[in-house]
Amino acid sequence: MASAAAPAASAAVRFQSFDLLATLVAVVHGNGAVLFANAALEDALGISRRAIVGSHFPDSFTEPAHLQNGLQGAGGNQFAALRYDAWLKRLNHEALPVHVIVTQTERADEIIVELLPLEQQARQDREERLSEQAQSNKELIRNLAHEIKNPLGGIRGAAQLLEMEMESRELIEYTQVIIHEADRLQTLVDRLLAPHRRPHLVGDVNIHEVCERVRSLILAEFPKGLKVVRDYDTSIPEFRGDREQLIQTVLNIAHNACQALVEQITQGQACLTFRTRIARQTTFGKQRYRLALELHVIDNGPGVPDSIKDRIFYPLVSGREGGSGLGLTLAQTFVQQHHGLIECDSVPGHTDFKILIPLP
Ligand SMILES: Nc1ncnc2c1ncn2[C@@H]1O[C@H](COP(=O)(O)OP(=O)(O)OP(=O)(O)O)[C@@H](O)[C@H]1O
Ligand SMILES: [Mg+2]
Repeated sequence: MASAAAPAASAAVRFQSFDLLATLVAVVHGNGAVLFANAALEDALGISRRAIVGSHFPDSFTEPAHLQNGLQGAGGNQFAALRYDAWLKRLNHEALPVHVIVTQTERADEIIVELLPLEQQARQDREERLSEQAQSNKELIRNLAHEIKNPLGGIRGAAQLLEMEMESRELIEYTQVIIHEADRLQTLVDRLLAPHRRPHLVGDVNIHEVCERVRSLILAEFPKGLKVVRDYDTSIPEFRGDREQLIQTVLNIAHNACQALVEQITQGQACLTFRTRIARQTTFGKQRYRLALELHVIDNGPGVPDSIKDRIFYPLVSGREGGSGLGLTLAQTFVQQHHGLIECDSVPGHTDFKILIPLP
């Protein structure tokens, strides 16, 4: 007599060869229960096979109904194979876009679900969009900033002259408002023009020196309630670049993280991680690089608000009271000047800004 555990065990043995595939594969019962999950699927979901087997597989997708209908169709012999695109939910990551193939086997209670990640394509599209945007943004910003800058000096000067003629304190308060606001605009415009004006000071950059510098700046500003974890691959070589620009880049990103972490900082549970790695044979910005530096700045805050997620690298986009929305635009411009790219992967509790820079 077969015990209840026997079918699962035999499934594990029979489907073992699926572990050799890079494609994500699940063998699913008609009622949606997972009988087997291959290693690639385990990896993509970020949970162990034990936890996946027995779970209701349609629930692993953002829209469970699609697979549920597919399984019913397969059970009812309505098709040999069904294909569609869907989003696979993952632990600590944004959902993964996949192409789903549902195939019947000769056994009605074993349906094979294959998932082909569409991420590569989606990423390339996104990168292309980002870099086109960045280019047209740059032009627009530069022209606009110059147009604002020119009359500002005149406005401020005129207010100062007026002030000298005035006797009433009350009226002087008004001219003070004009001068103060003109100064604020001046600072904003200077920041907008900074990446275009600043000479590129090229030297040998050690990425860990950059991280350490940012770490001490951040800890000086947030001395309590924040833990900064360093997870460095010290074999990363130095590369040619502008050290000051890279410090500004990492600082802008880390600073955003700390601003998002206010609640965790009060509770003493805020965590910021600097992780460096070497990526081999990686593709970004339409080029393939033999070696690239990956610097992750990870926080355990609430995540980037959905409403602005697609636009955080645009200028003047901010989800923060009093934010000018320039920090990430500047960071992206600086990294692009190093032929690199910044990407963001954010879910509540885990936000990962990844800086990619080609290495020699
Ligand atoms: N780690 C993060 N966690 C949550 N939200 C974030 C994070 N990083 C960025 N954001 C969101 O992205 C927005 C844009 O960031 P960006 O640095 O470009 O502008 P800002 O911080 O609003 O203004 P500033 O110009 O002063 O930096 C932020 O306002 C915030 O809503
Ligand atoms: Mg910012």
